[in-house]
Amino acid sequence: MDNQIQFKPGRLISIDDLDKEDILILYSTSLEFEKILNRPFKKIPALKEITIANIFFEDSTRTRISFELAEKRLSADVVNFSANSSSIKKGESLNDTIQNLLRMKIDLIVIRHKVSGSANYVYEKTRIPVINAGDGNNEHPTQALLDLFTLWQKGFKNENLHILLKGDILYSRVAGSAIKLWNKLGIKYTIEGPNTVQRKSQIRSITKKQNSFNVIYNLRIQKERQDLELIPSLEEYNEFFGSKVFTDFDQMTIMHPGPINRGVELDSELADGPKSLILDQVEIGVALRMAIIYLLGQKKGG
Ligand code: NCD
Repeated sequence: MDNQIQFKPGRLISIDDLDKEDILILYSTSLEFEKILNRPFKKIPALKEITIANIFFEDSTRTRISFELAEKRLSADVVNFSANSSSIKKGESLNDTIQNLLRMKIDLIVIRHKVSGSANYVYEKTRIPVINAGDGNNEHPTQALLDLFTLWQKGFKNENLHILLKGDILYSRVAGSAIKLWNKLGIKYTIEGPNTVQRKSQIRSITKKQNSFNVIYNLRIQKERQDLELIPSLEEYNEFFGSKVFTDFDQMTIMHPGPINRGVELDSELADGPKSLILDQVEIGVALRMAIIYLLGQKKGG
């Protein structure tokens, strides 16, 4: 794998850190790791000299496990730190945590934090590779990258995609990264959801021609980040923006980053149906995360 020679970024805080060439290198490296993950023996010694800290100040199930598995498949040493974000504020305490980690000779940090901008803050303070695993309502770049990689793996080509991004755009860091990624690669998308939870500045095209979509990307209603007055009730949300609004949903590929609010943004019939890629996203995500960790981990000492 010579890809790391051309891969330029030393961090993944935002989709802005990657240009098109970096994205292609990341995807071709992910393909290699996907092959490895399908072997009976899934572990390779690539990063056995590297120690990675996963510092999660906000709840996470699949993202944290996915990163940890990816790191272990690459033979990195892994330390995990979880804290309830409500007891830790950005500033001194986050800085203290990372200064301690640095002194213990951590080589790479994966961070999730409820404050937007915290991943960048950690990078500025440490100057070691940092991967943003979700910061507030800002970005979650590995999720957006793995979602598009999943679509490619399922045979979609950029030029044939028309994604309906549906839901709570304003509070969704997945949307923050996905929109940047799709804009960068010229992928067609349409945004649908209540007006009160849109990021107007990022909306490129709104066409209401339902039949032209081939993928529905459902976003979770972010109850923990929501000023709930923006949406009258979850039942009403389901009525107007849930699965029922699509009469031809059996034609469309269904995606969701998880966790799903079943019966709110997505009904089980679709989430568990034959056109759902939701578990494929989870599976393919490990290979994508191995690739980004590998490419950034190679920069140690460089
Ligand atoms: C996302 C997150 O935490 O930002 N989930 C995830 O990482 N799998 C999306 C969400 O919480 O809605």
